[in-house]
Amino acid sequence: MGRRVCYHTFVLGADHVGADDVRQAAAAIAGQVVRTPALRSEVLDALCGAELWLKAENLQHIGAFKARGALYAVGRLSEAERSRGIITYSSGNHAQAVALAASRHGISADVAMPEDAPAIKVAAVRALGAHITFAGLTSDDRKTKAHQMQAESGGVIIEPFGHRDIICGQGTATLELLEQAGEPLDALLVPVGGGGLIAGACLVAAEAGVPVYSVEPSACDAFAASLEAGERVAVQPGPTIADGLKPVMVGELNFAIARRHVAGSFRVDDDAIGRALTTLAAHAKVIVEPSGAATTAVALAGELTRQLRERLGRRPRIGAILSGGNLGMNQLAELLAAYPPPARP
Ligand SMILES: Cc1ncc(COP(=O)(O)O)c(C=O)c1O
Repeated sequence: MGRRVCYHTFVLGADHVGADDVRQAAAAIAGQVVRTPALRSEVLDALCGAELWLKAENLQHIGAFKARGALYAVGRLSEAERSRGIITYSSGNHAQAVALAASRHGISADVAMPEDAPAIKVAAVRALGAHITFAGLTSDDRKTKAHQMQAESGGVIIEPFGHRDIICGQGTATLELLEQAGEPLDALLVPVGGGGLIAGACLVAAEAGVPVYSVEPSACDAFAASLEAGERVAVQPGPTIADGLKPVMVGELNFAIARRHVAGSFRVDDDAIGRALTTLAAHAKVIVEPSGAATTAVALAGELTRQLRERLGRRPRIGAILSGGNLGMNQLAELLAAYPPPARP
């Protein structure tokens, strides 16, 4: 009985959000976020055998698309809600985004982050004035901590991916990319953690008829596993350098929206992510963090290009969201040493 009620709730949720809601979010945050470029690189095109459109969310405020959803969600709170302060839980980029939104509204932000969060993300959250509580290593650990914090302070939780406003805010990245690319893309590659970015992308791409492909680390493939199971499943995240793509389970509304439109899912290992990251740095002159390089790893692997070329009979046009760029320079140096970029073709 409980399951039936729950199912009914999420189907209604997915039916009641669409591309118009993403356009509404775009209008609300216009001027507050960067309209990031959709970069083109002849060298990357040659390496991938495709026309690649790289949506550079590494150049977004706080260095990731997360600014979009957080600014929209916090902007929609009432004055009374905002005055209670805001709370969130995050591997680091959503924490920075919430800290940014809080500082713009002159309110306090408390965030629960993993004990192994990259130093660059910890420093940025602190620099934006938010208070950090470290909580375990998994997304469940930090979610539990955030709810404890809420019980104590009465603050408002800004969900990292599962809320409608977050999904619509994140969808604005895809809205821009599809405008910037002009002609319809043949495929759009989107990295998945909890599913905020991909659910927002699907709302827009479904309307435009652009197929969306999910990308996850092989060690943490909660979305692909859920698609295969036909329902949301939890995974035990293994180690991966893509720290933003490690939630134990995708969000309910996220899965309900994305499962309807996603055309296929890709898993990438850390070697492929590391090589994509250094290839982007060397040949597109773009610095991204590992989570932001995952989509390029799929493009470089060639399988999607082969499939599309066979079907279309021409070089495919592929969009790839470079979701974030919060990478320490020491980590960049280590990755360049471990994964030397390929020579220019
Ligand atoms: C750089 C980066 N890319 C992708 C994601 C995944 O986003 P979502 O949780 O909306 O799927 C995150 C999440 O933290 C991230 O920081």
